[in-house]
Amino acid sequence: MDNHAALRANVGLLGQLLGDAIREHHGQAFLDKIETIRQLAKSARQGNDEDQQQLLTTLKQLSDDELLPVARAFSQFLNLANVAEQFHTISRGYRQDAGPNPLDQVFERLKGANVSEADIRDAVASLDIDLVLTAHPTEVTRRTFIHKHVQLNDCLAALELELPEEEKAGLLARVDQLITQAWHSNEIRAQRPTPVDEAKWGFAVIENSLWPALPRFLRQLDERLEHELGERLPLDAAPVRFTSWMGGDRDGNPFVTAKVTEEVLLLGRWMASSLFLNDIQELVSELSMSEASRELYIESGEHDEPYRAVLRRLREDLRETLLHLNARVQGQKTDARDLITDSEQLRRPLELCYRSLQECGLNKIADGLLLDVIRKVACFGIHLLKLDIRQDGERHTQALAEITRYLGLGDYAEWSEADKQAFLLNELNSRRPLLPRQWQPSDDTREVLDTCRVISRHPRDAFGIYIISMAGEPSDVLAVQLLLKECGVDFTLPVAPLFETLDDLNHGAAVIERLYQLPWYRGYMQGRQYVMIGYSDSAKDAGMMAAGWAQYSAMEKLVAISAKEKVALTLFHGRGGSLGRGGGPARQAILAQPPGSTLGGLRVTEQGEMIRFKFGLPQVAIDSLAIYASAVLEANLLPPPEPKPEWRALMNAMAEVSCAHYRSLIRGEPDFVPYFRAATPELELGKLPLGSRPAKRKPNGGVESLRAIPWIFAWTQNRLMLPAWLGAHKGLEKVVEDGHEATLRAMNQGWPFFRARLDMLEMVFLKADLGLAAYYDSVLVPEELKPLGKRLRDELRASTKLVLQLKEKSELLSNEPWIQESIKLRNPYTDPLNVLQAELLKRSREQGDIHPVLDQALMVTIAGIAAGMRNTG
Ligand code: PGA
Repeated sequence: MDNHAALRANVGLLGQLLGDAIREHHGQAFLDKIETIRQLAKSARQGNDEDQQQLLTTLKQLSDDELLPVARAFSQFLNLANVAEQFHTISRGYRQDAGPNPLDQVFERLKGANVSEADIRDAVASLDIDLVLTAHPTEVTRRTFIHKHVQLNDCLAALELELPEEEKAGLLARVDQLITQAWHSNEIRAQRPTPVDEAKWGFAVIENSLWPALPRFLRQLDERLEHELGERLPLDAAPVRFTSWMGGDRDGNPFVTAKVTEEVLLLGRWMASSLFLNDIQELVSELSMSEASRELYIESGEHDEPYRAVLRRLREDLRETLLHLNARVQGQKTDARDLITDSEQLRRPLELCYRSLQECGLNKIADGLLLDVIRKVACFGIHLLKLDIRQDGERHTQALAEITRYLGLGDYAEWSEADKQAFLLNELNSRRPLLPRQWQPSDDTREVLDTCRVISRHPRDAFGIYIISMAGEPSDVLAVQLLLKECGVDFTLPVAPLFETLDDLNHGAAVIERLYQLPWYRGYMQGRQYVMIGYSDSAKDAGMMAAGWAQYSAMEKLVAISAKEKVALTLFHGRGGSLGRGGGPARQAILAQPPGSTLGGLRVTEQGEMIRFKFGLPQVAIDSLAIYASAVLEANLLPPPEPKPEWRALMNAMAEVSCAHYRSLIRGEPDFVPYFRAATPELELGKLPLGSRPAKRKPNGGVESLRAIPWIFAWTQNRLMLPAWLGAHKGLEKVVEDGHEATLRAMNQGWPFFRARLDMLEMVFLKADLGLAAYYDSVLVPEELKPLGKRLRDELRASTKLVLQLKEKSELLSNEPWIQESIKLRNPYTDPLNVLQAELLKRSREQGDIHPVLDQALMVTIAGIAAGMRNTG
């Protein structure tokens, strides 16, 4: 069976069982109705107008009682289609962006390009990939459903094997059970998760997937290295690490408090201790050998099973530590001691055993579970994940302003940048404490200071970096350093500005250069700087074309300045999953960055549903890690070309025109905001309890304070996908009109950055749907705003035409049959959900307060469309 047929067969199987569950619950007549709707949607997609009309009428005529189960049926089907697709991605070795085995491929490419063995060795040794799991509210699927989907995946895998009929029947019965369980469960969370719930979710991803996946990935890399270079990875190699924002990112989220951060830090250690305890227990039972090195023999107290003796001690220490942490998590007193407080305490005995086995010629045993555990110590350590802290720059400014006002020094917030810097540097150099003793800070300031105090109470190893969102000046960075110092943090915690508006990106390199000039700062930073690049907020600010170019240019300048100043620069990419938020295939994204931008390591966010897609199952996680590692190796050893001056000039021109057009619409067009509110479910999205964080930075702010996620989420639902393309067309059109079409084609051929822009547009155009977007307008948008909707659709149509023309193609993504197939498979299920959503929005807006069941149906359509698009937005 070919790939597509096999996928269809599994989708068919899961769909049929879902149908059975629906029939049992609602009867044959209801199931027939669903089937009729599906068939009509299919035929409408093939261009049958009569069936299109029939589909709309059927959906509009659904009674209030029917709306929810119909929405649920289509939404659950889309989730099952995702399960089948993910399974095929794993089992057939199909990878969207790298083809089979990315590590093999990259070594082939490197050899083909005559890269020397020494260079490859150095590049592998300096691999430093830090994947940062955030708590961004973009995962619509409830954990209980994710759990069932993982089990369905396992069943599909088992069904591929040659099995006796009886076992096969058992598996099918299990699939049936799981689907029936899902059908009878509510797919919408009843309550918002707390930040601690979010952190626990992150820990579960580690436990279920990354914990087993990481050593397996390192084995692959190790084998490749041995094969290619005759050398192995060092024992303490940690080419990939994980950091978390869950419980640490407080930017615009008042629920992430210092207390939450403290709790999450404790939970991380608890989880790590418990996972290591299981592993050590297993080693105790496996390592029964008596031959040992002198060193181990003595350490074991001359025991006849020395490995077991040493590891049992470690096990007991871990047990006591776990009891201690458990009590602290529960807020109880305990006599149990906190014994294992440093990863070294795990590493030392394990490496002692490893050396001993090697000395005795028992390499096979050394390189089994023992090696895996040593690698996990190097990657996860006793904190499991490092925790980043993120806070809005404005909160630090306000905290300092409160202090200076109290001290009678004036208002820090009002000072010039030069005055701020002078004050901060003076205080940073001073031995006298700044914080007044009797002073009662406001709640907001107390929270900022308490967070710094939490940092001071934990070891450096527990943390990643401190990120300042909406950073714009050197003082933003120094301010955090002063607050940390005043709260007793006695280690160097890197502070990274996050540049996320067009202006801040354009000035980012100058800000960093000024920081590098400050002797105090140079001493503090110890030769390493982190800078975070915000993809989605800059695209929301300036449109994707201008923001993309500003990100590229900022990175290029930052790389050059850091090289000149001999500072190791780590760029931290704040990418979302969807294209409008900087998402896209990882390899393509990395190779589209400026040359040299991954030499200081790669740090990148992984968010919401992307964590599930990329790391939710061990096999998928192994593939994703291999994609990252191979792409970074390639980018470092075969860097993408520098753009030609002529290409830069065109990009400058396109960015300017497209930004002006984008802003003239978003900010200058008075109808825009009312149109956005009418044509998309923006206001209704707030009801969906996806994450702990509010949808807006300021509770009463308008669209400007709306976070990038709900902004894009809303446009994904009505299928206009506006933020992912608006502005690009005007920019491209202008340079085509100026006679540069051939140059654009050359840029597409020869410059990965530009090619990635056009590829992203192509993908967005395939997910967008003019017919559905027009349908939303016809149902929801008042007459006077309709012309704006039409203008936007005309622009989308023209953009599609132009991109196809530049790529010399007649059909979108004709070179990606798998993606085309995947979208085709989903359309008959997503289309009815879109029509239902428009209907439900209409009823809800007309009636003000709709019946909770209809509200629920609306939420289901939102989650279902997100599943159909495989992105919330
Ligand atoms: P932020 O993220 O709002 O937390 O900065 C935006 C995004 O990920 O799209």
